[in-house]
Amino acid sequence: MAAVAESIKRYSRFFKTQQAMDVLDYGTGTMRNAVYLAQEGFNVYAADLPEQVNKLRGCPALMYIERLLATDELPQSNLNVDLVLSTYVFNIIMNSAERHAYLDNAVANLKPGGYLLMEVRCRQPQVSCDSACRDYFSCTECSKTLTHEELDGLLTPHGLRRISHYYRSHAVAAIYQMG
Ligand SMILES: C[S@@+](CC[C@H](N)C(=O)[O-])C[C@H]1O[C@@H](n2cnc3c(N)ncnc32)[C@H](O)[C@@H]1O
Repeated sequence: MAAVAESIKRYSRFFKTQQAMDVLDYGTGTMRNAVYLAQEGFNVYAADLPEQVNKLRGCPALMYIERLLATDELPQSNLNVDLVLSTYVFNIIMNSAERHAYLDNAVANLKPGGYLLMEVRCRQPQVSCDSACRDYFSCTECSKTLTHEELDGLLTPHGLRRISHYYRSHAVAAIYQMG
């Protein structure tokens, strides 16, 4: 299984000290982060688009997961988790309405005071994506990136307040808390 996302390695001790042990990995992909956290003692739900959920059915790693959900189950699943994880998902959702629907589902399954950990690709201010790219804000490849200010602008209207963030080479990770 692929290595766990950097932000999860970095922040999992913080979540343990906050007793934020019930987790929804939203856009779980191959479940690399879900399995890592389950092995660390967290109770992990995993969700993804229906087509990805179908690919995961029968996967041995599901033995670590409390429940695997398709995204269309999330509006009524009421998981009441302490933490929603979102790693390298939000930056690939390019449609504004879909982004807001994604955040609505995250918040609908989060306890008051719960956390959202988001890690996304970040923009490289000095770098264009290839030699033909002249405008990294309108280029399709480069626009699949976000800054922490852009995340704030999208997440704050959903009642999420940033309490920590950091940048590393190609990514920004931020923890938000439900007000
Ligand atoms: C780049 S993968 C990241 C997977 C995983 N979070 C990780 O870090 O390994 C993006 C995942 O997001 C899922 N995805 C795309 N759009 C989504 C949406 N609107 N809601 C939930 N998951 C979505 C894709 O199916 C895919 O599994």
